[in-house]
Amino acid sequence: MYSKNDFGEKFRWGVSLAAYQVEGAYKDDGRGISIWDHFSNRKNRIEDGSNGNVACEFYYRYEQDIALAKSLNLTNFRFSISWTRILPDGTGEVNMLGLDFYNRLIDCCLKYDLEPWVTLYHWDLPQALEKQGGWTSRIVVNAFIKFADVCSKSFGDRVKNWIVMNEPSTFTGLGYLIGYYAPGRFGINNYLPAVHHATLCQAEGARMIRRNLPNATIGTSISCSYVAPSSDNPKQIAAARRVDALLNRLHIEPILGMGYPVKDLPVLEQIEKYFHPYDEELIKFDFDFIGIQNYFSLVAYNNPLIPYLQAFVVPFKKLNRPLTANGWEVHPEGMYRILKQFSAYPIKELIVTENGAAFHDRVEDNCVHDKRRLQYIQSYLGEVLRAKQEGVNIGGYFVWTLMDNFEWRAGFRSRFGIVHTDFVHQTRIIKDSGLWIRDFLK
Ligand code: GAL
Repeated sequence: MYSKNDFGEKFRWGVSLAAYQVEGAYKDDGRGISIWDHFSNRKNRIEDGSNGNVACEFYYRYEQDIALAKSLNLTNFRFSISWTRILPDGTGEVNMLGLDFYNRLIDCCLKYDLEPWVTLYHWDLPQALEKQGGWTSRIVVNAFIKFADVCSKSFGDRVKNWIVMNEPSTFTGLGYLIGYYAPGRFGINNYLPAVHHATLCQAEGARMIRRNLPNATIGTSISCSYVAPSSDNPKQIAAARRVDALLNRLHIEPILGMGYPVKDLPVLEQIEKYFHPYDEELIKFDFDFIGIQNYFSLVAYNNPLIPYLQAFVVPFKKLNRPLTANGWEVHPEGMYRILKQFSAYPIKELIVTENGAAFHDRVEDNCVHDKRRLQYIQSYLGEVLRAKQEGVNIGGYFVWTLMDNFEWRAGFRSRFGIVHTDFVHQTRIIKDSGLWIRDFLK
C-alpha cells in the first residue's frame, strides 16, 4: 500500500462540489432560475421526483461543511459559482447579495486553510439565456465572458485556481443531444452549435480570467473514459476510435489547436456552419492544467444502426466487472490508461478534479461502513500513482464528493459523498471512506 508521501509534497488533495448539487436556497437573496431549477421542477424528470431547491442547504451550512473538509485533512476545496446568483438573468445587473455569498464562502475556505478552486460553469445555465437559445446560440458567448469578468474581478484577490468549465461533453451531450439532462433538448442541430459555443466559452472565459488575473492558475475539466475495442478486429478498433473521438477528444483537441476530430467523426464537419471568422484561433487557449474526471471505462463495438457514430458501447452489466450503485463499472486501470492517453498531449499539468463512486450506504450506530467506496478510491488512487511514477505530470486528486448531494437526474438516490447526508435533518456523518482519507492525509 502506498502513502501520501509517495505523491510528493506539492500534490494537491481536495474535494469537489458543484453549486446546484449542494446549495439549495434556490430563490433566496435574489438568485435567478437556472435550467436545472426549471428541469428538476418539471414532472418525471428526476428519478426520485426530487429537485435541487433545498439540496444540502450548503448556502446556509457552508461553514460547517468546510470545517468538516478541514477535519479530513484536505487542503483544497473545489466549488462552483451559480451563474444566476451573480447575474440572475445571465447578463445585465449584478446581484450584490450573490457576490456576498461567494465572498463569505471564499473567506471561510481561507479561514480554514483550504485553498479555494472555483469552477465557473457546472451546468446551471441561466434559464433567461436558455429562452434565447441557450448553448445553441452565440449569445451565450458574450454572456459567459461577462460572467467570467465579474467573477475574476470580484474573487481574484483571494482565488488563485480557476476551472472554466465542468465536463462540456456531458452537458452538451446529455443536455442538447439526447435530452436526458437539462435543458432536455435533443438532435444534432442542437448538439453541434452547443459543442462549438461551449468550446469557444472555454477559451474565451479563460482569456478573460487571464486578462484580469495574469498570475492565476487556469484550467478546465474534461470528462474522460478509456475506450477499448470489443475485439482486435479492425472494424471494432475503428468503432472504439470514433467513440474515443466523441467522448475524450472533442473538447480537448480544439483548445490545443488541433481542431475538432473530424477525421474520425465526419459529422463534426457540420460544426463549421457555426464558425465565425477567427473562431479557429479563438477556441485555443494555453491552459495551466487540464482537469481529468474519470469514473469508468468503456468497451465499444461497431453498430451501423447508431446515427453518425456507427458504434455503441457494451452495457456495463455485460462486462463482468463490479458495478457501482448507479450501474457504472469499477475499472481502476482505466484511470491509469486515460491519464497516459492525455499525457501524450502537450498539456502542462493534469489534475484529477473528480473521481468517486455511488454505493448503497447504510447508517448503523451513527457510522457508515462504505467498504466498497473505500476500495474504489484506494484502487483508483493507486492507478493515479502508477501513472505519476511513470512520469505523467499529475498535480492533484480531488474526490467527488464531500457529502451526498443532488445527483442530477438520479436525484438523492445516488450517494457519492465521503460524508453521509441526512436530507431530512441536514445532519452529516463521516463515512469510513472519509475517515480513511483523514488518516491517509494526516
Ligand atoms: C460528474 C459531474 C458531477 C457529478 C459526478 C457523478 O460528471 O461533474 O457533477 O455528478 O459526475 O455523477
